[in-house]
Amino acid sequence: MTVNTLLAMDIDAIYEPVQTDLVRVRESLLAIVPPETALLVESVHHAMGGEGKLFRPLLCLLASGASGQIESSHIETAAVAELIHVATLLHDDVLDDAGLRRGKATIRALWGNKISILSGDYLLAQASLKLSKLNNCRLVSIFATVLSNLCEGEVEQIHTSYNLKTSWDSYFKKSICKTASLFSACCESAGVLNHLPETEIQALKLFGEQFGIAFQIVDDLLDYTASAEKLGKPVLDDLKNGLLNAPVLIALEAFEAQPEKRQTLETLVEKVFTEDPESLQQALFALLEEADAIPKTLAMAEDYAEKARSAIRFLPPTPYLKALEGLTRYAIRREY
Ligand code: FPP
Ligand code: MG
Repeated sequence: MTVNTLLAMDIDAIYEPVQTDLVRVRESLLAIVPPETALLVESVHHAMGGEGKLFRPLLCLLASGASGQIESSHIETAAVAELIHVATLLHDDVLDDAGLRRGKATIRALWGNKISILSGDYLLAQASLKLSKLNNCRLVSIFATVLSNLCEGEVEQIHTSYNLKTSWDSYFKKSICKTASLFSACCESAGVLNHLPETEIQALKLFGEQFGIAFQIVDDLLDYTASAEKLGKPVLDDLKNGLLNAPVLIALEAFEAQPEKRQTLETLVEKVFTEDPESLQQALFALLEEADAIPKTLAMAEDYAEKARSAIRFLPPTPYLKALEGLTRYAIRREY
């Protein structure tokens, strides 16, 4: 049995407890009010179709099952999380000038930036409509806060991109805002809908946040280690877009006391900003290896995943909790 088969089996077991609930989430996503404008129908269909992993709904549902029950309000909340996620990607592809997403041409590549932004706005409006039907002001507040955080994270990222002096504070602020806040909202809303005591809601929220940071660190790592084919986007895409992520920050720090090495790395990174990254990949990877940056990045992600697991030790042992813990382990080992 290959390592890949083992990973595939693991992820199936993680999805298993909420398999039928996820089918309901898919149905809810397909049932959003269809646009009347033909081009919007096409772009929304393109954005929502295909083999999305429904990772955020999975998180919502597992957190719901682990902390109580899964009712239709949990299903709808999971759908809201996915709609927000896809909307942010449509905006993000415009910001990043991305041509490929999940191996498919992006909406901006097919129909242009304006259609991508407006399709994202349409999905956000649909998320708001769903949320309004739940009659729960706290959920509205949780997801509105996520939207604010997402914008802040992106602005922080733009503000610090192409900057070799990017600080860890900025890196974590960006990661929490743009990734961990939605993870955290998925888990917090599960606790709210299950009427948990406030300390337990906060523990679920913390779980989501720490897990989200771990997930983002692995995302950063995959920019260096995964193949373009697996990722469905070009290699070193983040670095090419000026993002100084965990592996390179760790390497720059490791060469702090070796000014020549640090200079070589800085020059190479600057070249990636302007030249074909594929031709520079090997040289960059050699320097990262010398700095031990890949295992150190993984260790950092594992540390956050462990913090996440310890936040939810209070939950009773159920298949949902087991899957939730499994998800934090899988996220570290994933290859795309
Ligand atoms: C993907 O990151 C992007 C995000 C997780 C967040 C994007 C957020 C915005 C564009 C803010 C405003 C949007 C809305 C709808 C409020 P990435 O570029 O690191 O990952 P990728 O490799 O998947 O593109
Ligand atoms: Mg992007």
